Amino acid sequence: MALLPILEFPDPRLRTVAAPVKEVDDSVRQLIDDMFETMYDAPGVGLAATQVNVHLQVIVIDVSEEKDQPLVFINPQIEILDETLFDYEEGCLSIPGFYEEITRPRHVRVTSLDREGNSFTMEPEGLLAVCIQHEMDHLDGKLFVDYISNMKRQRIRKKLEKQQKARA
Ligand code: NI
Repeated sequence: MALLPILEFPDPRLRTVAAPVKEVDDSVRQLIDDMFETMYDAPGVGLAATQVNVHLQVIVIDVSEEKDQPLVFINPQIEILDETLFDYEEGCLSIPGFYEEITRPRHVRVTSLDREGNSFTMEPEGLLAVCIQHEMDHLDGKLFVDYISNMKRQRIRKKLEKQQKARA
């Protein structure tokens, strides 16, 4: 396994739209293992392949306290089950140190492939539903800062660019 470097906003590669996985083979499973290792190490509750500069529709998530409920989503499709909205203060490993309250539908249905390539469906609510929507946005090249005001987004961009320069 390997820790993968995580792209940070405003890196333009985060705007790439991910392609569907054609075949769930060992190379995809290796990517999944590396993504889990990277996510747990960060630490974070979700990671999309886009964030590690692999532009395939692959997501890993674990929202459990004990970090023992890994979830894998390959080529996920989402449907909103209930228009009731849910506010959650979201963070992102690609936007380190910044948190903003984002509003999303609270109950969704997700149909996806698992790490063996088998199809499954789940109907998450609350935090898990939010997390899946956040990660699916990454696969579309979207970030949570796209939902906040332009002024706030530019402020975050400037602060992150400064940090990135200091590190380079
Ligand atoms: Ni994120």
